[in-house]
Amino acid sequence: MSVHKIKDGVFEVGAAHFDRRLFDELIPLPDGTTYNAYLVIGSEKTALIDTVDPEKREVLFENLESLGIERIDYVISQHAEQDHSGSIPFVLERFPMAKVVTNKKCKGFLKDLLHIEDDKFIEVDDGDTISLGNRTLQFIFTPWVHWPETMSTYLVEDKIMFTCDFFGSHYAGASIFVKDEAKVIEDAKRYYAEIMMPFRNQIKRNIEKLSSYEIDIIAPSHGSVYKNPEIIINAYRDWISERVENIVLIPYVSMHGSTERMVYYLVDRLVERGIDVKPCNLTVTDTGKLAMALVDAATVILASPQVLAGAHPKAVYAAFLMNALRPKTKNIGIIGSYGWGGRMAEQLSGLLTNIKAHVFEPLLIKGHPDEDAYRKLTELADKIKERHAELGLL
Ligand code: FEO
Repeated sequence: MSVHKIKDGVFEVGAAHFDRRLFDELIPLPDGTTYNAYLVIGSEKTALIDTVDPEKREVLFENLESLGIERIDYVISQHAEQDHSGSIPFVLERFPMAKVVTNKKCKGFLKDLLHIEDDKFIEVDDGDTISLGNRTLQFIFTPWVHWPETMSTYLVEDKIMFTCDFFGSHYAGASIFVKDEAKVIEDAKRYYAEIMMPFRNQIKRNIEKLSSYEIDIIAPSHGSVYKNPEIIINAYRDWISERVENIVLIPYVSMHGSTERMVYYLVDRLVERGIDVKPCNLTVTDTGKLAMALVDAATVILASPQVLAGAHPKAVYAAFLMNALRPKTKNIGIIGSYGWGGRMAEQLSGLLTNIKAHVFEPLLIKGHPDEDAYRKLTELADKIKERHAELGLL
């Protein structure tokens, strides 16, 4: 249990989940996560902004008890995913007078997911406000960060923007405020890469929308709270921009060493040409690191051996994931080794159709690489260099 004071009358009362290691049964959490819930006490009404994952609801209730809270008037639901909404039914049970304040779309999701009764809701529109007496909450629709119903809440008098998943990070530490900026931005980049990257265009619109507000504090519902909002806003502006770095990401898997030899050779040729390379062995790399590398790598070369008549399943998984994350990568290619034929290149290409990038001719070799294979890899390195030069990266 711990309550974090954000300002007089504004507290973070959620829960840390230090030992959670997987989110959505998909996303690795090396530093755990937090479910931030914010209590805003006005002169007449009290509001709770988001709740916690139901597994941690007792922590929320202990925190509220430690503050002597006997009444909650409004539960603001910014996003229906259960890590923030899952404890709403328990809050309503504990505080029967409370109403759930949310938008129409979120209300629908909450009814579907949590079976909350219709008469428990107060529906708000984009820009609407509710008064807590001496404090005002304004609701700003920020769709697709992370679901279509997601909204932010602006505490007008205190200039605090509560953003739910937007600007969040999966990091559970002792302090709620940013201490080590570089570490927080690294965590936020991982979070962006895993969850937000497919929504770059919507994020751009949402940043523009929030920029019209004077913001002293950004308070997401995961990870650190920003007293210096520019650091996270500027990081996001960079990640969603078209700017890429002089980096080639090579996710690879190799069964008997042939594909690995190709990868190692290509790495050396690229480094010789002044290009940074991030080889990612798919049998040991955490998918969060792979996603982070996709945020700004100019080029991705996927390397796989052929298994039966297709690509290695780990390469298939990587291709599927990359395609879902829709990185701004400018060039993609496929290399690998096969024994007796198959459709690996077509199969992987078919999984990468969301990525609007220049596609290099696939380079597949039979068996272990020979002089001709190395010559072709050198040519591929030259082509990558050429493309990076055209992008102004060299
Ligand atoms: Fe933190 Fe989309 O839930």
